[in-house]
Amino acid sequence: MKRNVMILLIAALVITMSALAVYAVHPDTSPKVFPYESVLKHIPWAAGGDVRYHITIHKPYREWAKWPGKGELYKGTEPHGALLTTYVNETALGSITKGKGMEDGSIIVKENYDTNKKLTAVTVMYKVKDYNPSGNDWFWAKYDDKFNILDEGKVNACIGCHGKVKDNDYIYTGKVTGK
Ligand code: HEC
Repeated sequence: MKRNVMILLIAALVITMSALAVYAVHPDTSPKVFPYESVLKHIPWAAGGDVRYHITIHKPYREWAKWPGKGELYKGTEPHGALLTTYVNETALGSITKGKGMEDGSIIVKENYDTNKKLTAVTVMYKVKDYNPSGNDWFWAKYDDKFNILDEGKVNACIGCHGKVKDNDYIYTGKVTGK
């Protein structure tokens, strides 16, 4: 009887150790977060952190296309930065090409640099159906150079200034409507 218990214990130990060994070789590195794809479709729950996760880890924006016709570190104006690099996701790129306004799901990520080419901030516009109908449904976010959230949501400062180009769907960089 005792012997059986011993055998069982040893077996349990062996199984545990091998499970640990397998884990050490293949640690489960999948992010412990809720599914961002679905969150992003329901922005009222979402926040700058969710968008940040989406654009840096889930679909890294530096792998996206740049704004058509704009290269890296092109000249910008106040308040954003002396030099800018602007990335667009596929939906945004398609919308810019079609020229009928930015479609639901469009994301624009703009890196803002000073004259010494030092990154100072990252600003984002993200179009989400029904998020903010009076502001063309844009979700706004601003991160510092380490991606801490400085501003997010229906940010009045952003909306106030970009509202001057409301006819162009709040976009300054190029014409996206009226084609
Ligand atoms: C005082 C005006 C002003 C304010 C305030 C402002 N922007 Fe902009 N933004 C611009 C201008 C002008 C451009 C075009 C690029 C350039 O010349 O700097 C621009 C470009 C952008 C772009 C690239 C897409 C586009 O619209 O052309 C994004 C993204 C953006 N801004 C996000 C933001 C966010 C987020 C905020 C608030 C935290 C903000 N902006 C506040 C004037 C402003």
